[in-house]
Amino acid sequence: MNLTFTEEQEMTRRMVRQFAQEKVAPAIEKMEQEDRFPEEIVRQMGELGLMGMPIPEQYGGMEMDYTSYILAIHELSRVSATVGVILSVHTSVGTNPILYFGTEEQKARWVPKLASGEYLGAFAVSEAGAGSDVSGMKTTAIADGDDYILNGSKMWITNGGYADTYIVFARTSKDPGSKSISAFVVEKDTPGFTVQPKEKKMGLKGSSTCPITFEDCRIPKANRLGEEGDGFKIAMANLDAGRIGIAAQALGIAEAALDASTAYAKERKQFGKPIGQMQGIGFKLADMATSVEAARLLTYRAASLRTNGHPAGKEASMAKMFASDTAMKAAIEAVQIHGGYGFTEDYPVERYFRDAKVTQIYEGTNEIQKIVVSNHLLRG
Ligand code: CAA
Repeated sequence: MNLTFTEEQEMTRRMVRQFAQEKVAPAIEKMEQEDRFPEEIVRQMGELGLMGMPIPEQYGGMEMDYTSYILAIHELSRVSATVGVILSVHTSVGTNPILYFGTEEQKARWVPKLASGEYLGAFAVSEAGAGSDVSGMKTTAIADGDDYILNGSKMWITNGGYADTYIVFARTSKDPGSKSISAFVVEKDTPGFTVQPKEKKMGLKGSSTCPITFEDCRIPKANRLGEEGDGFKIAMANLDAGRIGIAAQALGIAEAALDASTAYAKERKQFGKPIGQMQGIGFKLADMATSVEAARLLTYRAASLRTNGHPAGKEASMAKMFASDTAMKAAIEAVQIHGGYGFTEDYPVERYFRDAKVTQIYEGTNEIQKIVVSNHLLRG
């Protein structure tokens, strides 16, 4: 396994790091205070080509390898986990289902707009009563002539209200279970489709998370991805890749927490010396750094498998659960190292603490990741 990045990947990293420092960092205060979606940042990411990094040039993307795309989410999330998740959801689960499962006509219709950033993508699988248990979804899509009529509601839709296209999963027959689920592209202005007021979240301020509802929402059959009944597999296959993005987001948070803690431990003096010189603090930093390194290796190992065209579902789940647990633990320790200051908004560690939590929950809870990994081991 090659543990170094290519010159092109390093260039991508430098470019994204510079963008994150120069454009994203100054926008964080407003995002946090006003819980406002960073539309201007997303527009600039489109201009830089970041909204279509792994998409082939033929569909308007940058045709970069998956590792470069993961580097971008990682670098953005070191500065803002909000911007990291907007990009990850847009690409991995908002655009890739069309690229991998769409017809040529569907790809030509939507992918170039998504890859350029003209359109923002979203993914709508979860429901109030069907989060981890995707097969338990109730939203229906009933065939009617050349159309389907959608009824039901979805929850936790990242980019909700700002997205132009939603990959929506619904049942096309009355059979329970995974085999009657189909996937559709629903455009934002379709009559009968409504975005509900956004959730008030603990963290990821600025990222928009909304319920969406379908009331006799008529969409053409031409908007179905794959065949009827392919939906569950389309969702799972794209979540396999999406989870590497969430691992990279969590890695970014964990690194930021470690960097802030190391800097603070060198500068903050108590008992006549920097607190980093006390083993109680030094050992915390050593543990954090070791976990961050392990999370980095798992994340880039999963990305590299994908870059090289190998299956990476198991490795993606391992990376996602380890990196998100690392982010949470690192953020807890970062607040502890900062003491009372860490509990205030004067230091960024309280934001890392709030942002880290959801990485253990979305794109499959870490308990679900263990099911995925154990299924790989036991089913072969
Ligand atoms: N790729 C392709 N096919 C797959 C697959 C994969 N990764 N995983 C399963 N399948 C197939 C199986 O082979 C099986 O096919 P057959 O019946 O033909 O053999 C079929 O799908 C059903 O598989 P399971 O029996 O394993 O399905 P299950 O109902 O037991 O569920 C699960 C498995 C792992 C628990 C799955 O439901 C799951 O991943 N749940 C978590 C959902 C999730 O991650 N939600 C995130 C929401 S999106 C989000 O958070 C985005 C955001 O906005 C941030």
